[in-house]
Amino acid sequence: MATVELINLLRPIVAIAYYVAFSALALHKHPEYLERLRQPDGRFREMFVQEVRRFYPFAPFLGARVRNEFDWGGNHFKKGKLVLLDVYGMLHDPRLWEKPELFKPERFANWQGSPFDFIPQGGGEFELGHRCAGEWITIEVMKQALGFLVNHISYEVPPQNLYYKLDRMPTYPQSGVIISNIRRI
Ligand code: HEM
Repeated sequence: MATVELINLLRPIVAIAYYVAFSALALHKHPEYLERLRQPDGRFREMFVQEVRRFYPFAPFLGARVRNEFDWGGNHFKKGKLVLLDVYGMLHDPRLWEKPELFKPERFANWQGSPFDFIPQGGGEFELGHRCAGEWITIEVMKQALGFLVNHISYEVPPQNLYYKLDRMPTYPQSGVIISNIRRI
């Protein structure tokens, strides 16, 4: 039990750190958003963070076993069958997201989607299923970390390997995201 509890503590901390690194990567790739990210009301920071969670892969799929048989979409789901939910695929599906291959925080300005479309931390209502209980705290920590990067320090991103593999879970830029010449502003 102690080990499980310890892992339950460490896992979300590491998970959020991955997303913070992807936020820094997104900022490095899209400096055109810097001024809007600096705005004090934080509205654009929230849109940016949501787009980081949509665009960058973290958990590419989630697995579950069928408890009660059912039919859906022309498929029969037998009891005990292993089912994989294609998280990355749904977050890049052009039927749900316009030009999904583009990093575009503006898409969240008036987003009217459902909890079944935007599923970086599991799908559906979290009260009724297994959607991540830490989703709100994740978003808040990401907003704070991004606010710190844009409003409190200046830094450089030296040449490094920012490529991330899609067959690793969870995935991460190969070099991490190394920043240098960090100064308080
Ligand atoms: C980058 C950050 C995080 C990611 C990507 C993430 C992702 C996930 C995913 C994919 C699930 C499974 C959803 C499902 O099976 O449908 C999950 C469940 C869960 N997460 Fe997170 N999580 C993150 C942060 C956190 C944090 C910060 C906490 C706690 C403060 C947390 C607590 C939980 C709990 C308790 C569950 C299990 C919910 C249940 O089974 O009912 N997570 N998370």
